[in-house]
Amino acid sequence: MPTTDLGAVLDLAYIRAQFPSLAQTVNGHPAVFLDGPGGTQVPQRVIDAISNYLRRDNANTGGAYATSRHTDAMIAEARSAMADLLHCAADEVVFGPNMTTLTFAISRAIGRDLKPGDEIVVTRLDHDANVSPWLTMAEDRGITVRWAEIHDADCTLDMADLASKINSKTKLVAAGYASNAVGTINPVKEIVRLAHAAGALAYIDAVHYSPHGLIDVAALDCDFLVCSTYKFFGPHMGVLFGKREHLLRLRPNKVRPNTNAIPNCWEWGTLNHECIAGITACVEYIADIGRGVTNGASNRTTEMRVPHPSGFSKGGNDAADTSGLNEGGGTERRAAIEAAYAAIHEHERALLERIMTGLKKIPGLKIYGITDPARFHERCATLAVRIENHTPLELSTKLGERGFFTWDGNYYALNLTEHLDVEKSGGFLRIGLVHYNTPDEVDRLLAALREIAEA
Ligand SMILES: Cc1ncc(COP(=O)(O)O)c(C=O)c1O
Repeated sequence: MPTTDLGAVLDLAYIRAQFPSLAQTVNGHPAVFLDGPGGTQVPQRVIDAISNYLRRDNANTGGAYATSRHTDAMIAEARSAMADLLHCAADEVVFGPNMTTLTFAISRAIGRDLKPGDEIVVTRLDHDANVSPWLTMAEDRGITVRWAEIHDADCTLDMADLASKINSKTKLVAAGYASNAVGTINPVKEIVRLAHAAGALAYIDAVHYSPHGLIDVAALDCDFLVCSTYKFFGPHMGVLFGKREHLLRLRPNKVRPNTNAIPNCWEWGTLNHECIAGITACVEYIADIGRGVTNGASNRTTEMRVPHPSGFSKGGNDAADTSGLNEGGGTERRAAIEAAYAAIHEHERALLERIMTGLKKIPGLKIYGITDPARFHERCATLAVRIENHTPLELSTKLGERGFFTWDGNYYALNLTEHLDVEKSGGFLRIGLVHYNTPDEVDRLLAALREIAEA
């Protein structure tokens, strides 16, 4: 994760005021959203962008009339916003319903070029959405699957084991950027390097990492990277980055009237336009955090960016913006995003230190994953715990009654919960902190957990 030299801390009052849902109460208790890894809350501007689109511009793409052109422009703008967030060109950004669907789709296309005897590598740490699509493809194509194992003691990837599973027959390495269960951040750049050294593709699941750390696909040099906007303060959508050369080379399953041009040829049927409208707003929300950090609050965009009809003249499905940079976005927005993640990282790091110190004092509580503060750069503030004599469901239910929203179970990191033998007994209790959480919320959670543990 990046570190900041800005000495920046987040303006939490400004941030929290943007999220209407954070003001809710449960049984008279303030709601504490610790369920970010399952989906984050959205700022008002995302809600506005979605409803404004439905109110004003609701249309299909490629029509020769105003609302359809507005829709084309809005989608092009969202693509550019995601290009700034991921650091790629706009025509390398593919929208889909969610990460899982996109991964199933791309795995079919990649599988077409593979033959029996070829190999792929998946990891024990990954969410199943970056495992099962590859296993299914491998089964269909007669391909050998190799598993990269973990160090059980700290739930980190065993990089020596991963390296040993890659050889000249390896065609793809699928790995996560960060674990949605135990918070481990993987050395993704090194994984990509190992894959490329063997001539294999690197497919990175950044769904869990995206609310916590800056993504730079250019620096990572990964072939594909997937994320879901609902995990970073946006609508329920999935986004895939694919290197242009691969999106052009691979053959998608598609209907005949759909364009052959990238990225649209990878997007089937009518997309969720209202959610795509929320994507630009969510990227702008993140960028505004950075603008506030570097330039002071007055430099933030208070209004969401709305595509102006006159700013766009091309219609049709082939009308993707291939510049990679959008009017009002581009270099300035990327710099703002970088500053935002530096500040987010600093704030989350403080929360992580606070919660870790407190959790270690709760009798009978076991933390899965890295616990040593000296290694906190290898993890994000997503914690998996168990407490003796309490099932994760029981803990989550009791916390829920007190207004704390946590998850129990495996959250689809099934290969990990099975491997650590906690699956049969309810998995973990997951506490997921993001930048809108406060030190006070952490303290109240710790007090509630201690009370439940000691009851
Ligand atoms: C690490 C990780 N990968 C993949 C997914 C699946 O994402 P989606 O719901 O967009 O298919 C999730 C969802 O929780 C996740 O946490």
